[in-house]
Amino acid sequence: MSSRISIFGLGYVGTVSAACFAAEGNHVVGVDPQEVKVEMINSGKAPVIEADLPDLIRDAVSEGRLRATMEAEEAIADTDVTVVCVGTPSQPNGSLDLSHVAQVCTEIGAALRKKSGYHVVVIRSTVLPGTLRELVIPTLEEASGKTIGAEIGLSMNPEFLRESTAVKDFYNPPKTVVGAIDERSGKVVADLYAGIDAPLIITGIDVAEAVKYTDNAWHALKIAFANEIGNVCKSLDIDSHKVMDIFCQDTKLNLSPYYLKPGFAFGGSCLPKDVRALTYKARSLDLSVPVLDSIMPSNDRQVERALNMVTAKGFKRIGVLGFSFKAGTDDLRESPIVELIERLIGKGYELRLFDRNVNLARLMGANREYILKVIPHISRLMADGMQEVLDHGELIIIGNGDPDFHSVTQRLRPDQTVLDLVRVPEGEAIKERYDGINW
Ligand SMILES: NC(=O)c1ccc[n+]([C@@H]2O[C@H](COP(=O)([O-])OP(=O)(O)OC[C@H]3O[C@@H](n4cnc5c(N)ncnc54)[C@H](O)[C@@H]3O)[C@@H](O)[C@H]2O)c1
Repeated sequence: MSSRISIFGLGYVGTVSAACFAAEGNHVVGVDPQEVKVEMINSGKAPVIEADLPDLIRDAVSEGRLRATMEAEEAIADTDVTVVCVGTPSQPNGSLDLSHVAQVCTEIGAALRKKSGYHVVVIRSTVLPGTLRELVIPTLEEASGKTIGAEIGLSMNPEFLRESTAVKDFYNPPKTVVGAIDERSGKVVADLYAGIDAPLIITGIDVAEAVKYTDNAWHALKIAFANEIGNVCKSLDIDSHKVMDIFCQDTKLNLSPYYLKPGFAFGGSCLPKDVRALTYKARSLDLSVPVLDSIMPSNDRQVERALNMVTAKGFKRIGVLGFSFKAGTDDLRESPIVELIERLIGKGYELRLFDRNVNLARLMGANREYILKVIPHISRLMADGMQEVLDHGELIIIGNGDPDFHSVTQRLRPDQTVLDLVRVPEGEAIKERYDGINW
């Protein structure tokens, strides 16, 4: 199905999108205040250097499916969907410069005031979460005199192309994310990508805004991490590419969704110890590894975050369900929940704790000694069953993912509140008395 699309901003993203949408059979009008870019497109030339782009633009212009203009009003009048691809550069202090987005929304809104019929505005520029609600919607509504969701549809549709392979990436993106204000807008935008073979994800506008930043922060982190590992390996005369090749073959724990769920701090007998040993080794090699060095402080902050959330809630009697560092183990070494418990004890909170595996370990097994000798103050607070903890606590902390705790939210008295560090499935059921550590 062919659409009539206007594209505002003829930089890398806008030009590639314009050429590819036109090649897909749509009718595209590009808009840019830079005359030179408009003239180049109208004479069939690419205003930016990108593989495959010159041919696409030449063909689309000669076949009458692509043209460019400096006039926003006529571009809006001739199209049903507008894709915003203007720049969002950094300001000197690192903040995002949204002046082009604000300006273009004013122009689009003013043009929509004079146009009748439904029109969808798609933000393809990278903008921080909240920008559509706080800037784009009010600007469009004020300039157009119309209401978003009624006469104007709105979508956040982040772009994942990489310069130099942008045309290929347009046809083979890792995913197509359509954040939409409502179903009608989402359908219009999803239809633009009907010919593209990629998973289509329709979601809310705020999630779509956040996904783009999460992706790019992750990509940057991956590069910095690999570089630091490479630097350590080189100092140890180890081939870093061999190491990372093997690392990347592990698609269960390394390149996978595992360890990528927001939640509480990590702990246990391996991760903290091994991160510390590696960063110590780097120091002894006179290497600077700021990313690796930041891991333990970041983890400590997460314990502090939980502590601050507990104290802010203002309850005195706290029940903790699950305090080994993950469900299904009795290992308490470097459990961040034990750390949290110790800080709460220190602040005078009245605690009762339950963890099935730790209870068993207290009676028998290798960890009996550890529990009785190293953490006797914690052992004294342990209850024999979950109910005892539920009876005691005004605030219940769910500390690990033991399936027994999934139904906790159904078993609470109306005066009890939950702080969830793991995201049990039933949390939403008691929304106003439920808080997740970072959701
Ligand atoms: N370049 C990339 O690889 C890439 C990839 C993904 C996402 N993005 C994001 O896409 C957006 C665009 O990036 P880019 O690299 O194409 O930017 P760019 O700087 O190359 O181009 C932006 C264009 O917008 C035009 N413009 C400014 N104000 C305008 C207005 N009022 N009306 C019409 N056009 C206007 C400018 O003249 C310029 O031609 C940014 O938010 C960027 O973060 C870029």
